[in-house]
Amino acid sequence: MSLKLGEPFPDFSVKTTFGDMQLHEYFGDSWGILFSHPGDFTPVCTTELARVVQLKDEFASRNCKVIGLSCDSIESHLEWTKDIKVYAEVFGEDFPFPIIADKDWELVVELGMLDPDEKNDTGLPLPARAVFIIDPKKRMRLSILYPATTGRNFDEILRVLDSLQLCDKYQVATPVDWKKGDDVMVQPSLSEEQRKKLFPSITMQSLPSGKNYIRKTAMPDISKSRGDCQK
Ligand code: BEZ
Repeated sequence: MSLKLGEPFPDFSVKTTFGDMQLHEYFGDSWGILFSHPGDFTPVCTTELARVVQLKDEFASRNCKVIGLSCDSIESHLEWTKDIKVYAEVFGEDFPFPIIADKDWELVVELGMLDPDEKNDTGLPLPARAVFIIDPKKRMRLSILYPATTGRNFDEILRVLDSLQLCDKYQVATPVDWKKGDDVMVQPSLSEEQRKKLFPSITMQSLPSGKNYIRKTAMPDISKSRGDCQK
């Protein structure tokens, strides 16, 4: 299966550390992030999941539910979460999100989440580190596949989520290395009239081409929207 941006994300039935569930039902009206791992009790995966545990309030404040996936059993995941909590230095709380048990590799194969450069001891390619962002209408809005040997940067994933939520609501785009609060770009497709109405205060960069396409404006105030999706 090769999923394209904007296409419906499949509603898999999954076995997780929170019980059996349908993926869409778990995400409900929220944004959703599914991230996969090669296996339990592996060092890089442990650091990644610990980071997601530490960022749980950041995801919640963006109206986003996360779910992990690793290619081992539920029993193994439950044991592993104890290590992850200690690594994250989070004590006395339940593990904050479910982890899918994909021990027969059904989902990782179906979603093409494999790293041909890394092999397990039977010579099969290892599951890679996939990230999917799914919007409240259950459409896939981002897909990144990292090699098994490279841990992800979850601050970057939050940054993309901020950009998606902002750009869904306002006709803007976010420039290189943009962070929440920075100026944004006015979308080039807007007419002069729309631009003036929507963004009365714009700074324009003069360029050798004479084409006025670099137009910046202050980031619109999204504080009341909680990541609505208008697409
Ligand atoms: C890890 O999570 O540490 C890992 C997993 C697969 C290959 C290399 C590293």
